Amino acid sequence: MQIDINLKENAYKVYVDELKNLEFDTKVFILSNPKILGLHLKSLLLKIKAKEVFIATVKDGEEYKNLNTIEEILNQMFNSKLDRKSVLISFGGGVISDMGGFAASIYQRGIDFINIPTTLLACVDAAVGGKTGINNAFGKNLIGTFYQPKAVYCQSEFLRTLSARELAAGMAEFIKMAIMFDKNLLEFIESIDAKAFLSASCGDEILTKIIAKSIELKARVVENDEKESGVRMLLNYGHTFAHVIENFTEYKTYLHGEAVAIGMNMANCLACNLGFLSQEECKKIEQILLKFNLPISYKIANIDEFYQAFFRDKKSYNSKINFILPSQLGKGFIKEDISKEIILKTLKVFA
Ligand code: GLY
Repeated sequence: MQIDINLKENAYKVYVDELKNLEFDTKVFILSNPKILGLHLKSLLLKIKAKEVFIATVKDGEEYKNLNTIEEILNQMFNSKLDRKSVLISFGGGVISDMGGFAASIYQRGIDFINIPTTLLACVDAAVGGKTGINNAFGKNLIGTFYQPKAVYCQSEFLRTLSARELAAGMAEFIKMAIMFDKNLLEFIESIDAKAFLSASCGDEILTKIIAKSIELKARVVENDEKESGVRMLLNYGHTFAHVIENFTEYKTYLHGEAVAIGMNMANCLACNLGFLSQEECKKIEQILLKFNLPISYKIANIDEFYQAFFRDKKSYNSKINFILPSQLGKGFIKEDISKEIILKTLKVFA
């Protein structure tokens, strides 16, 4: 299956289970981590023909998605004598695609890159849409670029080795898409046998459907708002809270999707306090998250510190925080100007 990302400039395709042979008349630089290479490098190399292939690894984990690692990657790119025609392949999860895309976007003012995601989360979200970046002491993904890949190849064969935790984390981003855009998708999610899904015994059919549905939705969103000045912000549902939690826990406690699950629950609580979402709808989402063993709560140690951290969010401007909330199941909106009192009331529920 092929899904077009129809951007005016930089259009590309996402191929689902269609990675056959990739031929390059240039150098290719594969960026990955030792775990992924141990599991899947052999099978990837069978599919790649290039002038020269370089393999670079970085440490596995969101806590390493920072400027130091970018410098290491760039040094490896220079040591490999990549030129401006060379191609970088990000082969891994969201951390790898974020950093690979960022390094590609700044190496000699930009070289081509391709994403071959190996986590469900990267397939349904991170690898598509051209957001690249890294974290710093001030927060998550605060440094980065919009830089579209030339192609994305999602292969369910690479997802078969994922743990239950990683599969659930990917599902969190898919649940996000459903709550923001499509009530029918939420019903599909409810119909999935979570036990079979988490034990990776649900079969490739379900995985392929999840990936395809998510990318089809994301394609339409990105085509309408590539640089996130409107509708694309809805893809950040749950993330305003999640990024603070990830930053406060130094990117070590939660997988990104797990933090998003907690963040969605917090956003729902805020939507409920504002009278947009009913208790019943809130409960329904909570049940769906719990069904996939996702966390829904985080103990906030210092409410004021947590509140202040919102102002470093990229959606915050003119000293105002913008929250992405569901107005009902399958529909999201951007809410500006929420009173501090209501936000603190919401945070107190988690203190
Ligand atoms: N991960 C959200 C986006 O790509 O906009």
